[in-house]
Amino acid sequence: MPLLSLLSTTLASIDASPRVLQVLRDLHKQALSESPFVSTSGPITDALEKFVALDPDKCALVYLLLRSTGARFVVEAGTSFGLSTIYLALAVGQNAGLAPAQSAKVIATENEPTKAARAREHWRAAGDDVEKWIELREGDLRETLKTDLPEQIDFLLLDIWTPLALPTLRLVHPRLKVGAIVAADNVIAASKGYKDLVDFLEAPANGFKTTTAPYEGGLLLSVYLGKKGA
Ligand SMILES: C[S@@+](CC[C@H](N)C(=O)[O-])C[C@H]1O[C@@H](n2cnc3c(N)ncnc32)[C@H](O)[C@@H]1O
Repeated sequence: MPLLSLLSTTLASIDASPRVLQVLRDLHKQALSESPFVSTSGPITDALEKFVALDPDKCALVYLLLRSTGARFVVEAGTSFGLSTIYLALAVGQNAGLAPAQSAKVIATENEPTKAARAREHWRAAGDDVEKWIELREGDLRETLKTDLPEQIDFLLLDIWTPLALPTLRLVHPRLKVGAIVAADNVIAASKGYKDLVDFLEAPANGFKTTTAPYEGGLLLSVYLGKKGA
């Protein structure tokens, strides 16, 4: 199905106010009008002006996974203009609202200041259902994720240049709760770049079980089952 026609199906999959839905509709349309871009080896200046956003159907899946697992602490590696972050924030905020006084947070990461500024504008436009659940860490995530992570992390979205995927997982791994999900975009389309990540996830000692869902480019989903004997 063409991605633009997935938009209405995607938006029907999520529980959101008309204000949030309008922001998502506008941003997806902008993102889908870009020429496709898949990270193979690293930062490419051509991508600086682009959303390079997660496809709508993947966003819907991630939102529903977060809702079904009650996730409240999420790390997003690669935020760009903040489109996927809106789904993450909406889900953790809604999960937090299921019981009184629950905390929740999406740690978003972006090292391009102009992109970070645009992301903040989009979250402001989406309003409190989204904006208040996001902590944006600006700078290289290999530094910004070194400290002050939540005690337990429920979900890690790897939507980043492939050489940064494994370094990110290594930083977050010690805080993943048993049952946490790691998602990585385009693992088939960028399989060479993701080899070290996939090898890590497949090594039994690291405690993951993994599958790849047949979305465009392949969406890896890995569940942290805990280290044996830990
Ligand atoms: C694929 S895009 C993220 C798209 C976003 N998840 C979405 O769906 O809207 C990857 C982003 O990671 C950012 N990035 C690249 N290297 C980074 C680094 N070392 N630290 C933080 N962000 C980085 C890029 O600037 C780019 O905006």
